[in-house]
Amino acid sequence: MSLTLAARTQHMTSSAIREILKLTERPGVLSLAGGLPSPDSFPLDALAQASERVWRTQGAQAMQYANSEGLMPLRDWIARRVSLPHWQVEPEQVLVTTGSQQGLDLLGKVLLDPGSEVLVEQPTYLGALQAFSAYEPAYRPWLADAQGPDPQALQPRNAMNESVRAAYLVPSFQNPTGHAIDADRRAAIAAALRAHRVTLIEDNPYGELWYDAPPPAPIAASAPHQTVYLGSLSKVLAPGLRIGYVVTPPDEAPGALALRARLLQAKQASDLHTPGFNQRLVLQLLADGFDLDAHVVSVRQRYKAQRDAMAQALTRHLPEGCIWQIPQGGMFFWVQGPDGFDAAASLPDAVEQGVAYVPGSAFYVDATLASRQQMRLSFVTLSVAQIHDAVVRLAEHLRREGRRSC
Ligand SMILES: Cc1ncc(COP(=O)(O)O)c(C=O)c1O
Repeated sequence: MSLTLAARTQHMTSSAIREILKLTERPGVLSLAGGLPSPDSFPLDALAQASERVWRTQGAQAMQYANSEGLMPLRDWIARRVSLPHWQVEPEQVLVTTGSQQGLDLLGKVLLDPGSEVLVEQPTYLGALQAFSAYEPAYRPWLADAQGPDPQALQPRNAMNESVRAAYLVPSFQNPTGHAIDADRRAAIAAALRAHRVTLIEDNPYGELWYDAPPPAPIAASAPHQTVYLGSLSKVLAPGLRIGYVVTPPDEAPGALALRARLLQAKQASDLHTPGFNQRLVLQLLADGFDLDAHVVSVRQRYKAQRDAMAQALTRHLPEGCIWQIPQGGMFFWVQGPDGFDAAASLPDAVEQGVAYVPGSAFYVDATLASRQQMRLSFVTLSVAQIHDAVVRLAEHLRREGRRSC
């Protein structure tokens, strides 16, 4: 058989995280690599009861095709959940997606032409790069200082008033760095978006996972006409449900209705709709009185303990020359290893020694020398005791590598 693949497949990358996850399925490996929510946090009993009720009372509807926008009661609930006093979201603005990952793909499909410039933080969420890359954009690294991405980067770059097609940000507890952008910088970015009419894709799966203080309001709240906002139930309820959402700008924003219509067409072409059973399951769970806010509080408590355990283990065991900060939320520590450490090259050895991480270079569009030393460590999947053991193994690995590079 002669098979010719589309040229665009050259731009698709397989997720380094998924490839590593395969390796770490080996017994005995303590993986700090995957961003998998703690399975102990899933409300399995409540889900089982709600699921049984969906089968009994709406089985046939749940097994039927559904509309592409998502079930109206769910869109309505999402709109109310994300709304703030100064940012009122209408259900019509909400598109239910099969995970927020699908939202990223749909946005790539409707916003990006080959060569379109997209501004991305360095490092940034690998899955967004994967989603956008199939549409062949030209990535522009979004330069940052200690407060986060520089709003100046949103200015038109030439006399023709050309600016980037879209900018992508995870402002709260970013994947991979765990960094949160403060209120002043968010306000400055919102002002620049409004002034220069750049479209922001604001991806916020971690905003509710804060451990010290809640993050500032989303940028969408200050620049609603310029921002397409993505959210997800993956980190606060269960990722296997695959319930995410895109909030498009309000009706009166220029281009909002066209964007909404095109996203819907793209969604129809992609999967017709997000599984109706899963949408009904979430609605039934809520109708049964499941208190999602209280559940999120319990997830926060669990993850805060795990974060603190990792901070303590890193402080106690990592060799000199390692740099990290304690993340105020989310799921990850971002660690820079000592001089000479090459996280990607030495990963197979680390796995051999029973510990895995994600090398930092995977999250860059222009990996620099410094990025070679970096790695992402998840603190949510393993127990407190396992986190300690994993960090001890990682510290051993870094020491061995240090001796090797001397
Ligand atoms: C920043 C970010 N965006 C989006 C996603 C995708 O989440 P989901 O498709 O499960 O909603 C993830 C998953 O890890 C993520 O870290």
